[in-house]
Amino acid sequence: MAGRELLIRTLDLHRDFQMGHVTVHALDGVSLTVEEGEFLGVMGPSGSGKSTLLHLLGGLDRPTAGHIWVRGQDITALDENELAAYRRQEVGFVFQAFNLISTMTALQNVEFPMLFARVPPAQRRERARYLLETVGLTDRMGHKPTELSGGEQQRVAIARALANDPAIILADEPTGNLDSRTGAEVMEALARLNREQGRTIIVVSHDPAVVAFAGQCIHLLDGRIADAPTPP
Ligand SMILES: Nc1ncnc2c1ncn2[C@@H]1O[C@H](COP(=O)(O)OP(=O)(O)OP(=O)(O)O)[C@@H](O)[C@H]1O
Ligand SMILES: [Mg+2]
Repeated sequence: MAGRELLIRTLDLHRDFQMGHVTVHALDGVSLTVEEGEFLGVMGPSGSGKSTLLHLLGGLDRPTAGHIWVRGQDITALDENELAAYRRQEVGFVFQAFNLISTMTALQNVEFPMLFARVPPAQRRERARYLLETVGLTDRMGHKPTELSGGEQQRVAIARALANDPAIILADEPTGNLDSRTGAEVMEALARLNREQGRTIIVVSHDPAVVAFAGQCIHLLDGRIADAPTPP
C-alpha cells in the first residue's frame, strides 16, 4: 500500500536481564520499522526475545539501551505517568492466557479499561456492546469467562484490547492456548481489524500458520533480527 506513514521505529534496542553474575541479553540490538496499518508477524524460537520486544513496544518495560519512536515521539524518554498514558491510549494487548477477569461478564471485561480512561458509564456500555458485536459475540455478552469457549474468551480479550481505540494491537501467542481451527478464527478476527479498521497489529508466534496472516514477518534469534522482512 502506497503512502503509509511510519508508526514505530526502534533503533538498536537492547534489553539485558541481570541474573546473579550472568547477564542475559534478551534483546541484542534490534532496529525495525512498522508502518501505520501494517500486520507484522514476529517469529523465533523460545527465548529469542519476542515477548521482551513486545513488552518494550507496548511500554510495559524499558530498554537497557536504544530508542523507540512512536509517531516520532521517543517513548523511552517518557516518565512513568506519560508511559502509562501511552499504554492506555495507543496500545491494546492480547495475551496467550486471555487474562480476563473471571468474576466479570464479557461485557464488563470489555468495559473495564474504559473505567480508567474515565469514559461515562452509558458510553462505556454502548462501546463494549459494539466491540463485542464486531468480534462476533453478540449472543455472549452476559457470559463469564468460564461460560465461554477458549476462542470466545480470546475474542473478548480482543474486544477489550480495542476499548480505548488504540492504534496498535500487540498480541503475544494469541492462539497458543487454542486448537488450530479456533486459532484460525481468532487470527481472522485480528486480520479483519487490520483490513477494515486499519489497525496496526504485531503478532508474536512460533506457528507459521499464524504468521501467514501477517503481511510482513521478522525472525528473532538470540535477541537479534535474523533476516530482513520477507515479502508476503
Ligand atoms: N524478567 C526476566 N528476568 C530474567 N531473564 C528474562 C526475563 N524475561 C526474559 N528473560 C530472558 O530473556 C530471554 C528472552 O525471553 P523472551 O520471553 O523475550 O523470549 P520469547 O522469545 O518470548 O520466548 P517464548 O517463545 O518461550 O515465549 C530468555 O532467555 C529469558 O529467559
Ligand atoms: Mg514469549
